Amino acid sequence: MLKGKHIILGVTGGIAAYKIPYLVRLLKAEGAEVQVITTAFAQEFVTPLTLSTVSERPVLSDFFDKKSGEWHSHVGLGLWADAMLLAPLTANSMAKMSVGIADNLLLTVVLSARCPVFFAPTMDFDMFQHPTTSQNIRKLQKLGYHYIEPAEGKLASGLTGPGRMKEPEELLQYLVTFFKEKNSFAAKRVMVSAGPTHEPIDPVRFIGNSSSGKMGVSLAKAFARKGAEVDLILGPVNRDVNFPGIRVHKVQTASEMNNACRNIFPNVDVAVMAAAVADFTPTEPATEKIKKETGLEVIQLKPTADILAGLGKMKKSGQLLVGFALETDDELNNARKKLQKKNLDMIVLNSLKDKGAGFGVDTNKITILTKDGNSQHFALKSKEAVAGDIVNEVEKLLGVEA
Ligand code: CTP
Repeated sequence: MLKGKHIILGVTGGIAAYKIPYLVRLLKAEGAEVQVITTAFAQEFVTPLTLSTVSERPVLSDFFDKKSGEWHSHVGLGLWADAMLLAPLTANSMAKMSVGIADNLLLTVVLSARCPVFFAPTMDFDMFQHPTTSQNIRKLQKLGYHYIEPAEGKLASGLTGPGRMKEPEELLQYLVTFFKEKNSFAAKRVMVSAGPTHEPIDPVRFIGNSSSGKMGVSLAKAFARKGAEVDLILGPVNRDVNFPGIRVHKVQTASEMNNACRNIFPNVDVAVMAAAVADFTPTEPATEKIKKETGLEVIQLKPTADILAGLGKMKKSGQLLVGFALETDDELNNARKKLQKKNLDMIVLNSLKDKGAGFGVDTNKITILTKDGNSQHFALKSKEAVAGDIVNEVEKLLGVEA
């Protein structure tokens, strides 16, 4: 499953490091090439000799090779890797990662890595329960690192609870699943629109909505994780998306979003329009800031272009077009009408009647309707998990299931 994949295994100073030679064996048996990098402290728990013997490569730890006088290029290592797994990751190294400290070779490679990075924190129960630890885990997840939750069980301290490193077989499974998933959209191009649009009233004021862009960004990441080349057309939101495989096009207004989407759409296999586009825009935005004394009783509005409907007209055979529908009543009927009217293959329905769905929350509850008349209800889930469900359905329609 991992044939020819380059894996960097970062080992820090936790007792579970004694299990790492076995993990190296498992990775090698799957066909991966494994480069082990350790911190100095890790070598108190597992010897470099054991690790280099099983990995068939010298173990790296220092910036310089004292014997040859050569420098180990952290940038080169970061580029070489297809994935990086940090296991066991101590609370100390994790805290350093969360603020970008790079005071050893392993941490500089983490900062230079362009590949997905998995981290498996392991520590004693009380350290794991500390709010700082939870904050650091959340921070790293937000930065796009993949979290491998520790298992519960007997810890080296004698305490029992969460904090144990997952067994080598399970760690291997994370990588195998990742690479298996990754391939289903290989060589496919996907466009996703996300966020609100801001329609200017004057240079400092606008009409907008409270879309956070979270659903669309989660979708873009879910497609990229499965190997798609993603163009994300992102309205004004307070988040940076820096994720391998995603090209971000920042736009402000519905008209800018329309232009970007229409330019890119002819070159993609799939387009998912998750943006909350403003339906109206001020007819003549003022060029100077409107003064209070001048007053503003009426703002004249004109409709914006329906981007999704426009793409429906442009759609060529083989392309898949997915829309969203935010409804408050007669939801299924209204969504089905939108699907037909805009020439879509699939529509994702959110009902504002569902608690926990829609704008400004981290969860969503959807129903997916397809052109062939089928509909499927999903439970309330995190937006990341909802994105996974949508991508799975697109995968089925496109016939690229892994
Ligand atoms: N959409 C779009 N361009 C617009 C308005 C909406 O591309 N100017 C897209 C959204 O990204 C979403 C879908 O159309 O995928 C449906 O949006 P929604 O607001 O539910 O429906 P509307 O078509 O705007 O109809 P209404 O607001 O009347 O329900």
